[in-house]
Amino acid sequence: MTPLPEFRLETYFTRWEFQARHHMTASDAQALSLQQLLALADDADRERWQQLVLSYVETWGSLPLRQAIAATYEGLEAADILVFAGAEEGIYCTMAALLGPDDHAIVSVPNYQSMETLALRNAGAVTGLALHAQNRWQPDLDELRRALRPNTRLIAVNFPNNPTGAVADTETFAGLVQLCAERDIYLFSDEVYRGLERDPARRLPQAAECHARGLSLNVMSKAYGLPGLRIGWIASRDRAALQRMERIKHYLSICNAGPSELLATIALKAGASIIARNRELCRANLVQLGAFFAEFPEHYDWQEPDGGCVGFARYRGADGVEEHCRQLVEQAGVLLLPASLFASELLPVATDRFRVGFGRQGIAQGLAAWRDFLRATAT
Ligand SMILES: Cc1ncc(COP(=O)(O)O)c(C=O)c1O
Repeated sequence: MTPLPEFRLETYFTRWEFQARHHMTASDAQALSLQQLLALADDADRERWQQLVLSYVETWGSLPLRQAIAATYEGLEAADILVFAGAEEGIYCTMAALLGPDDHAIVSVPNYQSMETLALRNAGAVTGLALHAQNRWQPDLDELRRALRPNTRLIAVNFPNNPTGAVADTETFAGLVQLCAERDIYLFSDEVYRGLERDPARRLPQAAECHARGLSLNVMSKAYGLPGLRIGWIASRDRAALQRMERIKHYLSICNAGPSELLATIALKAGASIIARNRELCRANLVQLGAFFAEFPEHYDWQEPDGGCVGFARYRGADGVEEHCRQLVEQAGVLLLPASLFASELLPVATDRFRVGFGRQGIAQGLAAWRDFLRATAT
């Protein structure tokens, strides 16, 4: 087997994530401390935490965790949930379990790279489905229909989207679900930012609820702001598909960390309040970010994203976004992700954009450093 290509974004983070002074491109909401999370637990769960034995846990995930996850879906049960070590392992296992050399897959672009890279690695052919910047990053269902082939087995999308922050319009998502249902195609729906829509009325149904072959990917890392737990999952009523993924998980993490499973169970039970807090944080940060970009219209184009905690702003400077991001991180300690990290093998992606994040506390300090840099370099 040929080695996997470099995961450009993660390699860049290896270099900078814990070095840069101001992480202004984080894709997660502000993390809670262990103390804060345990304060949300009921007495029984706090006692379980104290008594927890550090043994292996079930590969599928412990029953209380799967029950707590299933409760976040309409009409699903614990048996419809397979827990993974983060969303990333879920992406890996899905693509490896469901795609083979005779299959065609369709993946939205731009994307979080592993969705595309792992589809390309496992399927015989992959087509990109463009999110159109000029149309609020919406996908075009006619383009999708034209991309279909008799052997199209899986369509992969991600709303709210990383890096654009787009949420598909309700009718577009319904059309996508219908098309998958008519053709018996898997709908792999990365829903890791679900809950962080600016307008809750635009929150989409979860794929596992509305399509028998819907695969909903979710995780504690993003909207819940608990990436350190490394707990993700796929929800699906296609239990045979889940079982095939479970067999692959035996070669990866085998099972998750028991402490993480219990902490994730506690967090899910308090999920509504955690997500409400993170939504409010994003809202307040977006006010600051919007004001910042409005100060520098000659440098940036910014449209507030529909959801999630990242957006894909445009840099207008003649030096180009790659050079601009390099100078910002090296000279001002402000970390952003330039367009090249979102390049796709499937379709061209704008080369003048960068990802900015707004889910964490303390963005004012990062914006101040960024502003100082722009003022100091103004000619
Ligand atoms: C859209 C999307 N899916 C999946 C992942 C992977 O999440 P995790 O870190 O929980 O494995 C990320 C992480 O940035 C992401 O942005």
